Order: sequence, then C-alpha cells, then structure tokens
Amino acid sequence: MKILMVASEAVPYAKTGGLADVAGVLPKFLRQLGHDVRVVIPLYGSIDRWKYRMDDVPGAMGVWMGVMGELWCGIKESRLPNSDVPVYFIDYERFFARSQLYNEPNGQGFMDNDNRFVFLSRAALQLCKKLDFAPDIVHCNDWHTAAVPIFLNTVYRDDPFFSHTASLLTIHNMEYQGRYYSGLMDVLDIGWEHFNHLELEWQGQVNLLKGGIYHSTLFNAVSHGYAAEILTPQFGHGLEGVVQDRRDALRGVLNGIDYEEWNPAHDVYITAPYDKEQMAGKAVCKHALQEEMHLVPRSDVPLFGLVARLVDQKGIRLLAEVFESLMALDLQIALLGSGESWAHDFFNAMAAKYPGKFACYLGYSNPLAHRIEAGSDFFLMPSVFEPCGLNQLYSLRYGSLPIVHAVGGLNDTVENFDEYNHTGTGFKYNDQTPGAFYDTIGWALSTWYHRPDDIAGLRWRAMSQVFSWQGSASQYVDIYREAIWRRTGQSVD
Ligand code: ADP
Ligand code: GLC
Repeated sequence: MKILMVASEAVPYAKTGGLADVAGVLPKFLRQLGHDVRVVIPLYGSIDRWKYRMDDVPGAMGVWMGVMGELWCGIKESRLPNSDVPVYFIDYERFFARSQLYNEPNGQGFMDNDNRFVFLSRAALQLCKKLDFAPDIVHCNDWHTAAVPIFLNTVYRDDPFFSHTASLLTIHNMEYQGRYYSGLMDVLDIGWEHFNHLELEWQGQVNLLKGGIYHSTLFNAVSHGYAAEILTPQFGHGLEGVVQDRRDALRGVLNGIDYEEWNPAHDVYITAPYDKEQMAGKAVCKHALQEEMHLVPRSDVPLFGLVARLVDQKGIRLLAEVFESLMALDLQIALLGSGESWAHDFFNAMAAKYPGKFACYLGYSNPLAHRIEAGSDFFLMPSVFEPCGLNQLYSLRYGSLPIVHAVGGLNDTVENFDEYNHTGTGFKYNDQTPGAFYDTIGWALSTWYHRPDDIAGLRWRAMSQVFSWQGSASQYVDIYREAIWRRTGQSVD
C-alpha cells in the first residue's frame, strides 16, 4: 500500500503534543508491516536542517492558493530516524520559518494560520504529483490537514492521478477546528457551492475540520471512548451533528506508545534503570527527581507527577481549585508544563508558597518529562476530556500510578483499582468536581500509607500493560483497506 501521512507536527522534528508522537512513530510501524509510507510536515524555523541531514528535492514546486495565486516552495527530504521512511519538509519561509509552530510568543495564534495550513494540505498533494507517488490512502490529522480530504473529494475528485486515492482523517482533538472567515473559500478555490451547512460552513465561517469530516472517506478518533463521546454535545464541540451524520464512517483506534523511548529499563534520561521485577531503581529516580526539583528528599512521602500542556483541557483549573487543600496533606507534587499565563502565575506562586513540597518547571523539557514519570509514585490527569492521552500510558509503564478522570482514552486505558479483588492499574473518578478529584487523591494517598502491598500489586499490573504500536498500526491498515475499498471498489494487499 502507498500511504501518505500528512501532519502539522511529527517527532523528532517538531512537537507540541501527542499528535507529533503519532505522526512520527506510526509510519515506522506501517513500514515494518511492509507498506510504502511517506510523511509530509512543514519545515519550521525551529527544525535543525543540518542535524537531520536534509537533501533538496530538486526544483521549486508551485502550489495553487486561489486568490493568493500560485506560491512557490522548496522541498527538503530526510528519513525518520532509524528507519528508511522518507520525510518531506515543505520549505516555504513566509509561512513556516518561525520558531513556534502555531502561536506568537504571547500565546496568540498566528494571524495567517488558515493560509499556512491550507497551503500545507495542498502542497502535500502537489508533492505527490511531483514525486509521481500516487497514494492509495492519504492519512491526515486534525484541522491543520483536514483540507486534504476536502481537496481530494472536490477539485481532485476527477483528476486521473488521484482517481484511486482514499483519505482517512484522524481526530486527535475536536476542540481545535480551524474556523476562519468565509473568504478562505477563495483561497481553497473549490467553489462556493461547498460553503453550505453540510460541508464547510459553520455559523457563517469556514470550518476546516467539519469539511474534513464530511469529505474524508473514513475518519477516526484516537480511542474508542472518544469516538463515542464526539457523537454527543458534551464532547462534540458543536460538530456532534456532523459526526452523527457520518457515524457509519467513524472508527476508533487507540494510540500506541514508543517503548523504545518510554521504557524505564533502558531510558537514557533517568538516573537508574528499573523494571517490574527490579524496582530498586525507581527509588533512586525518585530521590534524584526530588533533588533536581528542590523537593525535600524523603522516600516516605508520596510524590505526584503531572506533565501537560497547561490548558483547560488538561483539568488544571480543577487542580488549582483543590491545590491548597492538597498542600495540607503529606504529599509532594512535581509539575512540568507550559501554556496559559494564569497557570504560570498560579503555579509559580504556589511553588514560592510551598517550597520543598511543590515544584514546577514551566517550560518544555522532554528529559524532565521522563524523569517525572520515573520518579513519581502517582501521576495526575484530571483532564476535562482526553481523546487518547499518552502520559497515562507512559505512567503505567513507569509504575507511576495514574489518577484520572474517567473520560475518552483515559477511561479506555486505566482500569480502576478494586481493593477487594486486587485488580486495576490506577485510580479513576467520574465527576469533574473538586470533591471527586480530591477524594480520589485521598484514596490513593491512604492506599500508599496504609496498604503498601496494594500499591506493589497495582504497580505490577500497571507495568505489565502493553500499548504498543504494532497492534494499532495493523488496525490502521485494516481501516486504510476499507477506505480504499470504499473509494475504488477494489481491494489492495
Ligand atoms: P496532548 O497531545 O493533548 O498534549 P498527550 O498526553 O497525548 O496530550 O501527549 C502529550 C505529550 O506531550 C506527551 O508526550 C508529553 O510528555 C508531552 N509534553 C507535554 N507537555 C510537555 C512539557 N512541558 N515538556 C515535555 N513534554 C511535554
Ligand atoms: C491530542 C489529544 C491527546 C492525544 C493526542 C495524540 O493532542 O489531546 O489526548 O493523545 O492528540 O493522539
């Protein structure tokens, strides 16, 4: 199968969240299954072109942008690390030579994000022609590349080059939809007849995610739980009706994690290796984390970790509400994240008020994310909604017991502790209220203080869980096959 993966970010080149993990790792597993998979992302200013040894794909490429005319870009090529999967970087400085991916340093989204990502989407398809690579399936991700299925199903519908190309749109997050002024129709240049309430129009604006859901051959959410949730007003963010209309094309596939990178048995960033048979290293990691973050180096106090984008989705308002009550308990919290400025102010103030008990690093650090997973006893994920969530999967493997709101991927992957039957891998609560969250932390805390054997059992079961990409990659292959069959009436190997 010829597969084109198009995304706005991919590890190791550019990452703000879990989308990058998916776009940079899934292709390697698809390759192992024998498919010809290639990846397209923008060449952001922050990507180090020398480190990744990029070659020029000769010749400039013209990309049609409607009223903006034809814009000419360059293409660079590299390989995903430790693989032969080609990655193509769209090199267009006016849109992408910036150090941040989506936002100004003050957090404001770039004014031209609509044009930037419509351009990425159209450039990806133009590149197929330039390389004479006619994909069986284009796999695109979130609103940034949702214009790909829109183009494929409109202006390229009868183009012989794409006559056999199906599309899959993966929804990693329904909250971000790419809503812009209606004039974007003239940039897309697919014809105003597609600006209607079924296709691209949403409350007088263009909604790229909506158009992508309508025009993709199949679409999926990154867990079964989230696939069911986005059919409802609570999680559909206004698009639940569109999702319902296409529910026969909706699938759910849980993300895997990369156990090469996230494995305490051979993690290059942590102080001492460990695994479920040999847990001594975890205590060393905890001590080292306490020292690194200036927490009191006590082994007899439970340490709670949290690593997240500091945005409402992640439930940090709830954490803020219960924060001072938590500080009255005998526990420690280590937080890593960056995001909204109120959260930075709040957690800075709390770190000053509770030195030795609470510590935070308000920035981005992959090595520290690993050390928090390894060094903490529990991991907090009070997300309001969570399409899949990767950190709870890392936490399970690192024996850092997840405490989660029972939604989306969190609910699908964490099994609640049952102290009578000795089952479960973490602690779950149903109501997103301060009381429920606080009580669940209290439950974890009392288990830690009074029933250490239960904690050992929980850890053992948590660390035995496997959420590998092998399984998810073969589910994606099945979905690609189905999409190709829907598009062409033919099956592929
Ligand atoms: P989302 O994609 O919604 O942010 P996920 O749980 O799927 O949530 O993925 C988040 C990813 O980003 C994880 O790999 C996590 O370790 C990483 N991450 C988030 N914030 C930071 C940070 N401040 N420093 C380092 N890694 C971070
Ligand atoms: C999104 C979601 C997160 C998911 C990630 C990768 O950013 O918020 O839950 O794990 O995408 O699919």
